[in-house]
Amino acid sequence: MVLVGGGAAGLRAAIAIAQSDPRLSIAVVSKVYPMRSHTVSAEGGAAAVVRPDDSFDEHAYDTISGGDWLCDQDAVEAFVHEAPEEMLRLEHWGCPWSREPDGHIAVRPFGGMKKMRTWFAADKTGFHLLHTLFQTSLKYTRVVRYDECFVTKLLVEEGRAQGVVAIELMSGQVRAITAKAVLLCTGGCGRVFPFTTNANIKNGDGMALAYRAGAPLKDMEFVQYHPTGLPFTGILITEAARAEGGWLLNKDGYRYLQDYNLGTPQPHPVLRSMELGPRDRLSQAFVKEMEKGRTIEGPYGPVVHLDIRHLGEKVIKTKLPFVRELCLKYQNIDPITEMIPVRPVVHYMMGGVHTDINGATPLPGLYAAGEAACVSINGANRLGSNSLSECLVFGARAGRAAAAFAANQPEASSAVLAQAADEQRRLERELLHKTDGRERIAVLREEMQQIMEGSAGIYRSGATLTEAARKLRQLQERFRNIALHDHSRTFNTELIAALELSYMLDVAETIVQSALRREESRGAHQRTDFPARDDQRYLAHSLAYRNADGSCRIEYLPVTITRWPPGERVYGK
Ligand code: FUM
Repeated sequence: MVLVGGGAAGLRAAIAIAQSDPRLSIAVVSKVYPMRSHTVSAEGGAAAVVRPDDSFDEHAYDTISGGDWLCDQDAVEAFVHEAPEEMLRLEHWGCPWSREPDGHIAVRPFGGMKKMRTWFAADKTGFHLLHTLFQTSLKYTRVVRYDECFVTKLLVEEGRAQGVVAIELMSGQVRAITAKAVLLCTGGCGRVFPFTTNANIKNGDGMALAYRAGAPLKDMEFVQYHPTGLPFTGILITEAARAEGGWLLNKDGYRYLQDYNLGTPQPHPVLRSMELGPRDRLSQAFVKEMEKGRTIEGPYGPVVHLDIRHLGEKVIKTKLPFVRELCLKYQNIDPITEMIPVRPVVHYMMGGVHTDINGATPLPGLYAAGEAACVSINGANRLGSNSLSECLVFGARAGRAAAAFAANQPEASSAVLAQAADEQRRLERELLHKTDGRERIAVLREEMQQIMEGSAGIYRSGATLTEAARKLRQLQERFRNIALHDHSRTFNTELIAALELSYMLDVAETIVQSALRREESRGAHQRTDFPARDDQRYLAHSLAYRNADGSCRIEYLPVTITRWPPGERVYGK
C-alpha cells in the first residue's frame, strides 16, 4: 500500500491498514516530516457528540444545514456516529483532551454548531492530535516512512492505481513505489489563493495527481474563507476565541453581525448566535460591512476587530494561549489589553477528489481521505471543527477499504516501471535539464493567486469567472516556458516549487470552471449574478474531469438525501 501524506488522515489511515491486515506493508510518502504536516497548525478543536443534551441527529442536522444541503446525508450520518468512537480512541492513544474540573471531557461551542460538541486540547488541538497519531503509528513496524519525498505521478496500469513516482528530495533520485492500492491524504490547496491560513505545502498535490490520472474532483467551487485571519500573514485566529465569548466589532465598535440575520447580542455562552454563525455567512458579512464603509483601513487593507479583552487574563492564558502567542509574535499586540485586527482568509476546500463513503474514487485502487478528498460531509460550507474528526473517521474508513481492496490484488505489473522511467525523462526534459525557459515561477504563481482572489473569492460572477478561466489558460501556456536556475539534484526546492505550481494551476482551473457552471448561490459559492439557491438545477455535486487536451469538463451527480429535505438555514433563533 502507498499512502501519500503524513497528516491526520494519512496517519490514521496507516494505523487502520496496519491493524486490519498485518500482512500489508505500508509506505507513507510525505513531502515533509509528518509532524510538519498542516494538521499540526489546527487550533480550535474536533467535533463529536459527547454530552447527554446532544444527539447524532442534531450534529447531522447542523452539518447538513451548515453545508446548505449539499452534503451527502448517508456520509454525514456515518460521520456523526463514528466520530465519538474515534475521539475516545485518540484519548486511549494518549491525546490530552482538555477536561472539566470534574474530569469530563471539556467541549466548547463552535461556528454553526447549535450544541457544545467541540473537543479541544487548549487551542493547540492539531498539534496534540498529530503527535498522538504519529507516536501510535510508530508501534507498527510495517508502516515505513518515506519522509521528504515528493510525488510527481500516479502509476495507473490495467485500469487501476498501482503506485506512485516520487522524488527523494535529499538525493534528487526519482523512484517508483509500486503498490496494490494508493491512498491520497495530501490536504487542501489554499495556496492557490494569495491570502490563506494554509501552510506553503498546501498546493493541491493529491487533487492534481488524481485529476491527471482520470479521477474527477468534486465540488471544487466551494472555497471556505475563515472570518478571522491576521492581516498580512493570514495566520488563523481560531474560532475558539469567539467560542469563548469574543466579539467582532466594526469601526464604530458595533457588533455588526446582528445586522445579518445571525441573531442578537447574547450574554455568554454565545451558542446559536452572532459571532458563532457559520463561516460563509460571517465572511460575506465582512464584505458587506466593507462596502458600507464600516471596516477599519489597516496597512494591509480593511479589517474588523476581534475583541477578547472582556474574557480576562485567566481565560485567555488558559484556554487561548496560542491566540495570545500568535498576536504577540506576529501582530505585536497583547489581546489581553488590545483588540485584534482580522479579516477573512482562505482556509479550507470543501471540494476534493471524488470518493464514496469509504474513500474509494472511481479509479480502482485509488482512495482519498481528509481535505484532499470530497466524501461530501461538508457540502457547500464546512462547520468549524468537523474537519479533524473527518480526518479520523474517513482516514480510518479509507484505510480499511483500501486494505480490503489490496488483499485481492496481484502484485503491481512490471509495466509501471517503464512508466516511472518515462516520468523521470519528462521531469528532466521539461524542467531539470531545460535551459531556455523565460518565465519565472514566482511571477506565474502570484498572477494565479491574484486572478483567483479577484475572480473566485467570497463573491463571484459569470463575467469575472469567464475572464479568470481565460487568464488561467494563458498561465498554463506560459508555464511551458518556465525557467529553472537550479539544475542540481540535492534539495532542489526550485524544481519542487515548479511542480507545485503546475498542480495549483490545474486545481485553480477546476475551481473556476466549477464556479462558472454553477449558476446559483449556495454556501461559500456566492454568485452576484445568481443570488439565490436553485435546488431545481443544482442540488447536485459538480464533478470536474480532465479532458485529453488538458481542458476541464464539468458533470453533475445528485446529492444523497436521506432524512433531511432541503430547507432554510436559520441562525440566531
Ligand atoms: O478556527 C479554528 O480553530 C478552525 C477550525 C477548523 O477549521 O476546523
